[in-house]
Amino acid sequence: MTKTIRNMKTPVSGRMRAFVAVILLALICASLISVRAQRKEKSAPTKPAAVKTSDADQLARRRANALLAQMTLDEKIGQLNQLFFFSFQKEESMNDGIRKGEIGSLLFVTDPATINRFQKIAVTESRLKIPLIFGFDVIHGFHTIFPVPIGMAASWDPKMVEGAQTIAAREARAVGINWTFAPMVDIARDPRWGRIVEGAGEDPYLGAAMSRAQVRGFQGDHIGSPEHLLACVKHFAGYGAAEGGRDYDAANISDAQLWNVYLPPFKAAVDAGVGSVMSAYMDLNDVPATGNRWLLRDVLRKGWKFGGFVVSDANAVSDLKAHGFARDGHDAAVKALTAGVNMEMSFSDAVYLKNLANAVKQNQVSINEIDDMVRPLLETKIKLGLFENPYTDEAKVKSTFDNPAHREAAKNAAERSAVLLKNQNNLLPLSKTVYKKIALIGPLADSRQNMLGSWTFAMDINRTSTILAGLKTKVGAGTEVEFAPGVQISRPPSIFDMMLKEKHPPAWTEPQAADEFKKALDLAKHSDIAVMILGENQDMSGEYASRSTIDLPGRQLELLQSITATTGKPVVLVLFNGRPLDITWAAQNVPSILEAWYPGSEAGNAIAALLFGDAIPGGKLPFTWIKNAGQIPFYYSHNLTQNPGEQEKRYWNEKAVPLYPFGYGLSYTTFAFSNLKVSQPEIKIGETVEVTVDVKNTGSRAGDEVVQLYIHQQAGSASRPIRELKGFERVTLAAGETKTVRFKLGPNELRYWNAAARDWVQDAENFDVWVGSDSSASLHSTFRVMRF
Ligand code: NOJ
Repeated sequence: MTKTIRNMKTPVSGRMRAFVAVILLALICASLISVRAQRKEKSAPTKPAAVKTSDADQLARRRANALLAQMTLDEKIGQLNQLFFFSFQKEESMNDGIRKGEIGSLLFVTDPATINRFQKIAVTESRLKIPLIFGFDVIHGFHTIFPVPIGMAASWDPKMVEGAQTIAAREARAVGINWTFAPMVDIARDPRWGRIVEGAGEDPYLGAAMSRAQVRGFQGDHIGSPEHLLACVKHFAGYGAAEGGRDYDAANISDAQLWNVYLPPFKAAVDAGVGSVMSAYMDLNDVPATGNRWLLRDVLRKGWKFGGFVVSDANAVSDLKAHGFARDGHDAAVKALTAGVNMEMSFSDAVYLKNLANAVKQNQVSINEIDDMVRPLLETKIKLGLFENPYTDEAKVKSTFDNPAHREAAKNAAERSAVLLKNQNNLLPLSKTVYKKIALIGPLADSRQNMLGSWTFAMDINRTSTILAGLKTKVGAGTEVEFAPGVQISRPPSIFDMMLKEKHPPAWTEPQAADEFKKALDLAKHSDIAVMILGENQDMSGEYASRSTIDLPGRQLELLQSITATTGKPVVLVLFNGRPLDITWAAQNVPSILEAWYPGSEAGNAIAALLFGDAIPGGKLPFTWIKNAGQIPFYYSHNLTQNPGEQEKRYWNEKAVPLYPFGYGLSYTTFAFSNLKVSQPEIKIGETVEVTVDVKNTGSRAGDEVVQLYIHQQAGSASRPIRELKGFERVTLAAGETKTVRFKLGPNELRYWNAAARDWVQDAENFDVWVGSDSSASLHSTFRVMRF
């Protein structure tokens, strides 16, 4: 509209001027109506899942204020201090600090007896008896390990994900942990970035759904629900856009991308009632996230009305010096606190503890600012019930861990996360009667640690079902399963190596390597089928685990090529990884490919069930599966820009197309979509349209399809992406069964943040709608949004 006004330079008559004024007035009113509709939507976002009873909030506030009134400045600052405690450290190193009230929280303590001992000091020996809050990275399971988050996102099943995190919470809570540093909701569009494995992939809509589900799973229906944890959404914000995919590197994100792509999963977590937020490490548009007042105050607290507390990532406050943002530790503490970081997480250099008292004395920080930072921490401890129930019942830990329902849920999650990428001539599912001798080949086939993925420290590694064990159990005595690793894969030491429960095997000598390669080839020759278990070791993705390429590490491709090309035996490739890998050769030459991610404790049993058809793959890719690293970044939801008909020709040396599109995944059955209907051809701004579609299982066995809805705004006050996911539902259909699936498209789905208006807008424009089984769906309709 501004453009329209600016362009009206031609002289106009008085009457004409009056006419124009009326039109302008009408337009202004209309835009105000629309803005108001948006404002209304902003202040009334999706109904928070966490029902915060205002009574409980008020009570917590009163108790926190009463405590604050009794606290010395040093005691207040102590509450803002969180330290790591690893099992190799001496407990005595912490005891004195707890006693003096210098520590508000510990992280990484997983032994219930140690937790109780530390807590006892806090609640009996510290002056005000304020309990500690114990945090840990409960990312995808605690004792029972679920698939890595990227795998769980591939299930497109928020209910399942909520259930998995409910169990993770129960197990962690049993040992006395109160707080998890999850969900990690960073959007990742560069798979070189190792931490893509920890999130839900490239899409904000899917990411928001997974974010909500995890917050609900961890926290239950309110902060303080029995057997639940406080959740901490991280890393606020933009960490997934690390330049070049290099972990910790700066993120430079346009405002439009920030609001439309990177922030929605965080907003979803806040709307779901998340109790804490972790500030990210890196610079966001030149301002470190941990010193970013705009992010932590304007967006999070003022904009989104977040009432919980912010914890820094580990050492991120003192690292403000390293960024060249703070002059020294004192300056770092002042900058982080005034930006809005309540609690400093640190390994050792606790700059809050060391400097904040002086900063108050020097009037750089006011006592009110300190109180404002401490209050939500105290309120959270109160809401969690820590004052009344500070200890955990050590006697109950074992029975919680041994609950068979937890293993069953982990198996179900692993099965629902798997994505079938290729299945030529229905090679899968396998039949025990056809294949009497199975060659199980690959470096990951008999590994336990590599079935679990990163952030798995507290499980009993011996209770991990390997692929070898799972397959053997599945086929029983009548079918032989023989194993040969074929090749080894490794990376230079990872920062997490010392915490591994299963150490890397010693490296083979060259002659050994040649011998093992040959053994695998021979085994395949003398078997009926080769099942190849390839991918990346779990430490090849995760924190500080970025790669410049996405190829299959080591000689895995060579092994796969030799076995596929020379043995004449059918080959099934099962992949274990946290990012898309360059499997272009396999996609052309290997008949069946199943993506398993890092499936967790029940890996072997779940994969065996999938391979033999007791479970049917129904997962879908949560990212665009690119062909090679040269294509990065490549995401489905890009703008059309110039010459959109020639998008495949953006490079002259190869087609600019992915190997598999976002949302892609096959089943052992087939599905057809029909009868796409949009309830009204036209709606007004602020109104909602209903989209319905029939999905039919056209095969001969039951299976799951994820019905996906994409939209495109054809014109407007900004260019909009070629397609955007705006609805999905995973459905199970018996053979021949048809189901009608319904979606709603209203202001929440149709509005976007506009860089010209610098606000959320909903344009009155034409929209395309596609529904189908992935982001290349062709079943199409349209509708129009009118201003009046
Ligand atoms: C650093 C990681 O970036 C963060 O995700 C994690 O929660 C903390 N360390 C604590 O382990």
